[in-house]
Amino acid sequence: MANLFVVGTQWGDEGKGKIVDVLAKEADIVARFQGGPNAGHTVVYDGQKFILHIIPSGILHPNKRCIIGDGVVVDPGGLLEEIEGLTDRGIEVEGRLFLSDHAHLIMPYHKAIDAESEKALGKKGIGTTKRGIGPTYADQASRISIRFCDLMDEEIFREKLERNLKEKNFLLEHYYGAGSFDSKEIVATFKKYREKFSHYVTDTRTILKDAFKSSKKILFEGAQGTLLDINHGTYPFVTSSATTVGGVCSGLGVPPKMIHTVLGVVKAYTTRVGGGPFPTEIHGDTCEQIRQNGSEFGSTTGRPRRCGWLDFVALRHSVWINGIDHLAITRLDVLDGLEELKICTAYRYNEEILVDTFPHTEVLDRCEPVYETLPGWKTKTEGTRTYEDLPQEAKDYVTLISDTLKASLAIISTGESRDSTIIRESLY
Ligand code: GDP
Ligand code: IMO
Ligand code: MG
Repeated sequence: MANLFVVGTQWGDEGKGKIVDVLAKEADIVARFQGGPNAGHTVVYDGQKFILHIIPSGILHPNKRCIIGDGVVVDPGGLLEEIEGLTDRGIEVEGRLFLSDHAHLIMPYHKAIDAESEKALGKKGIGTTKRGIGPTYADQASRISIRFCDLMDEEIFREKLERNLKEKNFLLEHYYGAGSFDSKEIVATFKKYREKFSHYVTDTRTILKDAFKSSKKILFEGAQGTLLDINHGTYPFVTSSATTVGGVCSGLGVPPKMIHTVLGVVKAYTTRVGGGPFPTEIHGDTCEQIRQNGSEFGSTTGRPRRCGWLDFVALRHSVWINGIDHLAITRLDVLDGLEELKICTAYRYNEEILVDTFPHTEVLDRCEPVYETLPGWKTKTEGTRTYEDLPQEAKDYVTLISDTLKASLAIISTGESRDSTIIRESLY
């Protein structure tokens, strides 16, 4: 297969960063198509940990080209920090990272509005990362957003900024009772960004078109997960972009025929950060055991992640929406030592049993999971590199997942580092 899309099948943090890093070795280009610094993709190799928010996880392989596409929302200050952080650690970024001139800028007022809006919602808040994601995409949809091509022209940037600030400052001051922004300060800060990013901003659509024509291998890196998709997730407790397969085409300007295969990343259990329905959520000691075993704290915000059992109803939905043909099951080792494991095979909603339909949020809130119980395993799987070395119960668990989802089991991840990986099938 030439081009591969790696997608999260749950509510994010499935371990996409690690899987993309493992696969990037074989790819020529790694491209992000949506989301922004709400993402936190962790890659560990040679004992070093890297948390990437905007830069594709292929960057840690020398000579790979990385693209931040049209559909990504970018906080220029954050991106600059990320570039500098990598450069300081000996990872050369310039000349390998290409930033779309169509990508939208997260402005300081977007972050302020995100935070104020969450504050105003109180307990009913989405639990956003407060990175300004929603307000930036809202401006994109309202056709008032500022893009990198605008930033590159001082006059156009100033004009759009001043027009937007009138409305944003009014909202912040008079609706939220918060502080406002001064255009001169923003203009001065963004002048610095204009200079810094002039080496990075380009027409990424043409890079991808040329790559396709010359049969280069492209890896499309998803951020967030299917259940956080603006259309197909647990709306309104979602992020503001298309995290699923359709987003690849619209977010990068590539035709569907360019996506040759889809790899779904499935965490061996489920987690979610922020609010919203979570039918298989567990509380108490078992949740605490998983959270501690797996250090389940958000890579971007440090918030404790909510933990739950694997959910086949949700996963079937993800497999269908994305056309997943292969699976990467991650964090199997986190389940080491549990007496038994539960898997949700269906939802009970009043008298109905839902197996193949993933309901909307209000119904989902009232669904009861129907569980099957499986034995856990006593032997450690952590660091295992061959399928044969897995305990039988772990083999049965992953086989059940791939059989139920009718997708082939390509990768099993047994630890955070690159080499704690079982590759069962080469995807290239
Ligand atoms: P992403 O957002 O999907 O890239 O996932 P995150 O990086 O936010 O969270 C996944 C976490 O699990 C990171 O800390 C990874 O280093 C870690 N990780 C990935 N795969 C495995 C695995 O198989 N086992 C363990 N123990 N950790 C893993
Ligand atoms: P990665 O790529 C997990 C969640 C937030 C919140 C909701 C909306 O690391 O898997 P937003 O800031 O996007 O407006 O927040 O989406 N969320 C994520 N949860 N992993 C992520 O990214 C997430 N990005 C956003 O917690 O519930
Ligand atoms: Mg993450």
